[in-house]
Amino acid sequence: MKDMSLQLNRSTFGNPANAGNVLPRQAADELFSSWVLNPRLQLHMKQVAHLMKCWAAEKENFDEADQWRWELAGLLHDADWDQWPDQHCKKIIEELEASNIDPEIIRAIASHGPLHFGVEPVTGMDKMLYAFDELSGLIHAYALMRPNNYAGMDLKGVKKRLKEKSFAANVSREDIDDACARTGVVLDELINFIIPRQATVK
Ligand SMILES: [Fe+2]
Repeated sequence: MKDMSLQLNRSTFGNPANAGNVLPRQAADELFSSWVLNPRLQLHMKQVAHLMKCWAAEKENFDEADQWRWELAGLLHDADWDQWPDQHCKKIIEELEASNIDPEIIRAIASHGPLHFGVEPVTGMDKMLYAFDELSGLIHAYALMRPNNYAGMDLKGVKKRLKEKSFAANVSREDIDDACARTGVVLDELINFIIPRQATVK
């Protein structure tokens, strides 16, 4: 969610001394459910969180602690969108900084829309969060219009929707192209990664 762009005008986030600090799952869930009331947005954030965790586990071979750091970035990346759209990105970043959270997680959230917030994605976590964010939204919009939802969905169908500018018009194709190029992962591979994994998130 980036319709209301707010340039952050910052390039450093969090305190390096807090590297490795995370919110425990229960605290993260509490923040999530008190800040995000819209069920559609909740689902989107859970989907992105799951994709981040799966990528960390399957592609990066990270241990459980690092998987949770990736998942947490996904889970909270739009946390302030629902109730504070005019402070989107800024508010959650400041909250996590005040909680002494790992700067990599904060930076990943800050850079999930470089064309909007003005923060460049640098790390793998930054780039994958950016890429999964928009692709996940487009693929879910496609699932909602299909009679069998995710069942039988394939790459070809997703790419067709991607080319139809009127479909899920709020999903920026410019962001998708930009994000994909930055990851160095081919778009087809990203889409094929997302479909079966996102299908399991309820
Ligand atoms: Fe998002």
